[in-house]
Amino acid sequence: MEVVQVLHMNEGDGKTSYTTNSSVQKQAMLKAKHMLEESITELCNSGSFPECIRMVDLGCSSGPNTLQLVKQTIETVNSICKRLNREIPTFQVFLNDLPGNDFNVIFRSLPSFYEQLDLCKDKCFIAAMPGSFYGRLFPDNFLHFVHSSYSLHWRSHVPEGLRTQSGSPLNKENIYISKTSPPSVREKYLDAFRKDFRLFLSSRSAEMVAGGLLFFTMVATDDSGGHRSTVWELIGITIHDMVLEGLIEESKLASFDLPYYAPTMEEVRQVAGEEGSFELQSHEAFRVAWDSSGYAAGIGNGHGCTRGKRVAMNIRAVGEPMLASHFGVEMMDGLFERFAAKMDEHLKLNDGLGVAIAISMTKK
Ligand SMILES: C[S@@+](CC[C@H](N)C(=O)[O-])C[C@H]1O[C@@H](n2cnc3c(N)ncnc32)[C@H](O)[C@@H]1O
Repeated sequence: MEVVQVLHMNEGDGKTSYTTNSSVQKQAMLKAKHMLEESITELCNSGSFPECIRMVDLGCSSGPNTLQLVKQTIETVNSICKRLNREIPTFQVFLNDLPGNDFNVIFRSLPSFYEQLDLCKDKCFIAAMPGSFYGRLFPDNFLHFVHSSYSLHWRSHVPEGLRTQSGSPLNKENIYISKTSPPSVREKYLDAFRKDFRLFLSSRSAEMVAGGLLFFTMVATDDSGGHRSTVWELIGITIHDMVLEGLIEESKLASFDLPYYAPTMEEVRQVAGEEGSFELQSHEAFRVAWDSSGYAAGIGNGHGCTRGKRVAMNIRAVGEPMLASHFGVEMMDGLFERFAAKMDEHLKLNDGLGVAIAISMTKK
């Protein structure tokens, strides 16, 4: 499976689109907002204030969160400038995602977005920069601010080594690290994360000016150890149920591994320390509810929608293109209906809270 070709969020603005079902990610952005504002304030106070701030949002997707980050950044810089009685800089903003992203939805909303900004005309220029952030996207010494929200847990490839020498899958009945996975599976996923994240940091390091700000949030795993189920583990169990029902072939499940890894804070810090280009400024871990999605589609609370269904809507918006390309489009309605019911059962006994981390670093 070529991740670049199958990883993109559900397009458009319909009922199953990412645009309609991205409130889990919005929740994470809101929880990290205070830390982002503090980091931007420090960047502005740290000395040279460029006349044109060049920034990028990596893994911007297309939906209400995409331009929200741009707005939040501009508002923060503007209020600092007003306080310091300085001229407001120009913003050159790049929106990055994989080429399969629905950039057209964003482009269509730009005219009304420019009108909402409290800026004079010709102060903000937004462009797209498609491509993988696991590699170079910009010239040397170019960016002042790099942001990424809820994207860095995606891997560039399915981890290597998830098959024995004879070709049998190590994680046969699962699609991601699960309670029943052998420990070697977690190690392979961690290896893949370490390689990707190191490449991410060295690419950004070349592209950023000294003192530039790198700020990101991502899905994470509790440092405290012990197994906590993830939504992807429950998707894997649902697919396994469909194998037992005779709806999906066993070999289809055995040959699918999710290109994803949610690291611990320590794992992130360790790779950053080894790579060595960035200085850690601040970091925070917080909880994010799995079931805050669906409100925008009018199927949230008060519309007879269960918590399980809301989780299913969010995961469908994120994972459907990839899962459909392997298991078949015709399996998707059944998969997400079963998953919603399973999630409702799970949430009777569990809190349904995931872990996320926010990290602020500056380029040395
Ligand atoms: C869950 S969405 C988050 C979108 C948005 N930042 C938000 O907070 O709503 C993750 C995005 O990361 C993108 N992504 C994953 N891997 C990527 C890569 N290697 N390069 C660029 N974008 C990537 C996906 O295509 C997807 O649009």
